[in-house]
Formats: sequence, structure tokens, C-alpha cells
Amino acid sequence: MKRIEIAELLTNGSDYLGKTVLVKGWVRAFRSNRFIQLNDGSCMGNIQAVIDFENIAEAILKRITTGSSISVEGELVSSQGAGQAYEIQASTIAIIGDAHPDEVQKTVLQPKKHSFDFLREQAHLRFRTNTFGAVFRIRHAASFAIHQFFNNRGFNYIHTPILTGSDAEGAGEMFRVSTLDPKSPPLDDEGKVDFSKDFFGKQVNLTVSGQLEAELAALGLGKVYTFGPTFRAENSNTSRHLAEFWMIEPEVAFNDLNDNMDLTEDFLKYCCNYILENCQEELKFLDERLAKEQAQKPQNERNKLGLIESIKFVVDNPFKRLSYTDAINVLLNSKHYKKKKFQFPVEWGIDLQSEHERYLVEKEFNCPVILSDYPAKIKAFYMRVNDDKKTVAAMDVLFPGVGEIVGGSQREERLEVLESKCEEFNIEKEELWWYLETRSLGTVPHAGFGMGFERLVMFLTGMSNIRDVIPFPRTPDNAEF
Ligand code: 4AD
Ligand code: MG
Repeated sequence: MKRIEIAELLTNGSDYLGKTVLVKGWVRAFRSNRFIQLNDGSCMGNIQAVIDFENIAEAILKRITTGSSISVEGELVSSQGAGQAYEIQASTIAIIGDAHPDEVQKTVLQPKKHSFDFLREQAHLRFRTNTFGAVFRIRHAASFAIHQFFNNRGFNYIHTPILTGSDAEGAGEMFRVSTLDPKSPPLDDEGKVDFSKDFFGKQVNLTVSGQLEAELAALGLGKVYTFGPTFRAENSNTSRHLAEFWMIEPEVAFNDLNDNMDLTEDFLKYCCNYILENCQEELKFLDERLAKEQAQKPQNERNKLGLIESIKFVVDNPFKRLSYTDAINVLLNSKHYKKKKFQFPVEWGIDLQSEHERYLVEKEFNCPVILSDYPAKIKAFYMRVNDDKKTVAAMDVLFPGVGEIVGGSQREERLEVLESKCEEFNIEKEELWWYLETRSLGTVPHAGFGMGFERLVMFLTGMSNIRDVIPFPRTPDNAEF
């Protein structure tokens, strides 16, 4: 007999009423030696299987434990009990894989509330919990929505290299990739490691961004995007940073900063709307989870909106757009500043700290914010210099709860300006000859941005730690699994 997925039974149950069906899954709960809650991953919901004692041997009954995998055959009937429309009157049960109760006790499979810390230590099993099932289904749906958004608009998906010789962001936070013997590497005349003897004949690292390569592609294909793993060796052990994360980087020829802001806003709204329309069951579950978590907090620390409400809010309301300079003035004029409640100083030229960003989004404007035209000194070399010569055509999108979700800019398309920026930032022009050459061969204005995929998933799921929205997080001192 062919197995039917539980999602199919729960959505189209009436088609199967009175028929014999076969399902397979993991036991989530077994009550009164009679009611099994079975889940096979096809949806959040479980199907209830009711045991008919006469048909099921005592030896099998004993092995139906939480966490074990079984197959159940029986007639689909309308359920007498509350909480489900249909259930299976089990006539045959076979054990597929045992799960010994003593072992289960020590794991997150035990049906009770577990801390997220413990769940992280059990990343190999947390897929089987309701919360992580919901999070990873939404993660999937969001990545699908992203490809759909760009495909609908005629963008080409470009696979940029993971191994690269360049430091696109100029922040020096790179993981080196080398096949040299770490104990006795070849040395040059000055006694330094001779990377010309390394695998690629030069120093190579894991990419911190696919942008520079995406720009090359956009200058031929017009509209492109990347969606790939990105690596940063920044030693920031925060709830919003990973050493390995996924980034989406669209790049569009002939776009200026305003076009770039419009694209970002459309893009974020599309992703949010897609999840509202396609992940209702998961959102409802996570919304309730978040509400319970919020209820534990002091009144003044609670979110103003629930999960679903805050996603709807993003879809329905325009983002607030203002310049970095105006944002600094807003901060300087705030009561918060006057009462000395910011930990870090506020003055023109600073890199905004997350407390500043959160103040703007959560206290001042109460909506997503796009800040633009930052001081040139605190932004990357490739951003287009504005007429004032002090600022660049940069933009950051700030979201409630997550802070910076997108960073982008119009790119410097003027060769002389770009060359002088390279000098200013101590970037060897020889290393970037291919990037610079595009500026003397039919250069055009162009713009793009990068969105941290996990930051989006945090917003869409209400999870407050970035480690809980990626299956196997990579952070300082942690690369288990
Ligand atoms: O602001 P960033 O550094 O911008 C770039 O890399 C540009 N090359 C993007 C572009 O214009 N094509 O990073 C972009 C986004 C951030 O806004 C943030 O959402 C995310 O990537 N991000 C991280 N996410 C998780 N962990 C980290 N360590 C992250 N660093 C950046
Ligand atoms: Mg940034």
C-alpha cells in the first residue's frame, strides 16, 4: 500500500473518509495507551491514530513511545474527540525505529518546554520540535519567495565564488583558505609566509560578499542577484551575528540610490506578504509562542505588536526614509539623549550603534526606516561619493527587533574617483584590476544591496537569536554538527 502524507490527510480528509490509509511518522505523544499523535514533517499538524486493542499485539504497544517511528494502517474516520476532524482507526501498526524512553528523557524529544540553549546543543534533533519545524518551513518559504520575486522581475540568479582573493567590504574579517602546512609554511626572503606557493598562488579567503562579482555581471546582464553563503570572522558574539550566514545581493545597472530604496522596499514587502499568505499555520503557532514569551517580560520591554501584526504592518505601511545627518539630529534632540540614556556617544561621523538604530525604529518612528547618505569614512570604498564630498550614496534598512536587515548603495562608477578611493582605503589597484576596468569600458551608474537572510527569517518568525533561524549555526567557538 502506498503511504499518504499527513498534510494530505489533514487538508483533503473527506476524500479518504471510510478508506484504508497508510501513514508513517514519528510519535509525538502516546496517551492512555490508546491515542497516538503522529507527525511526518509534511505539516505542523499531527494525525491522531486510535488503537484498536484487539488488533495490536502487546509487544508492539510497548514499543510505541515518544520519538519512535512507526507505520500505521487503518480506516480514516471522522473524529469523535475535540481538536481534530479526522483520525485513523489503526488496524496494523509496525515499528520502524525504536526510541528508548531512557534515551528520549535526555533529549529535546521529551515533550516538555526546553530552553533554546538546550535546543541548540541538540541541533540534530530540534527539527522534530514544533517551534523549529515552523521556523525552518518559513525559512524555506522565504527563500522560495526571494527567487520568485527576482524571477518575476527578470533578474538573473548569479552564482558568485565562495573562494576569493578580494576583501569586498574592506573590513579584514576573513577566513583564510590554505593548503600550506601550518607547522612549516614556505617563507619568502623577508621571512613571511610565501602565499605564492599556496594552492591558488595567492592568498585566498572565504567570501564576505558576492557584490563585486555581481556588479561585473550586472554590467552585462542588467539585473542580477546572488543568494549564497557568506563568511565573516568578526568576533562578535551577539544574537544577530553569525560567522556563516546567507546573503541576497541584487545589483541593477542604471539604478540610482532612490531606485535602490524602492527595490528594497518592494522586495521586503513581497517576502513578508508571501509568508503571510503561505505560512499561516506556522505563523499562528509562532505568534502564540511569542505572545507567551512576551507575557513573561516587564510591560515596558514588550513588543507593541504581535508577530503577525508586525509582519502585516511592514506590508501595509511605507518605510520612513531619512538621511544619516537627519537621523543624528533626531537622536541629538531626543529625550533619551538628553537624559543620557544612550551608552555610546552621538555625533555626526559615528557609526550608529544598535541602541541608536533601535531607538529610531522602535521609539521614534515605529516603522521600518531607510537611512541614507552616510559619512564616507564609515562606509566601504565602492560607494558613490555625493556632491558634498563628505557623504556617500549608501543606505541601510533598519527593522524592528532585528536592527540592520539590509545594507546597500549606489556604486562609484567614475574611474578617477574610484581610484582615489582605493588609495584612501589602502586597496591595491592591481588586485582589483578587473573591477576597475569595468569603469573605463562603458561604465554606467548602478546600485544594489545585501540582505542578511537570517535577519529576515528572525523578523518573520519572531525568534530573537539568530542561532535559532539557521539549522546549524557557526559562531565563535562553535562549529558542532
Ligand atoms: O552591510 P553589509 O556588510 O553589506 C555588504 O556586504 C554589501 N556588499 C551588500 C551589497 O551592497 N551588495 O551586509 C549586508 C547585510 C547586513 O545588512 C546584514 O543583514 C547581513 O548582511 N549581515 C549579517 N548577518 C548575519 N551575521 C553577520 N555576521 C552579518 N553581517 C552582515
Ligand atoms: Mg552594513
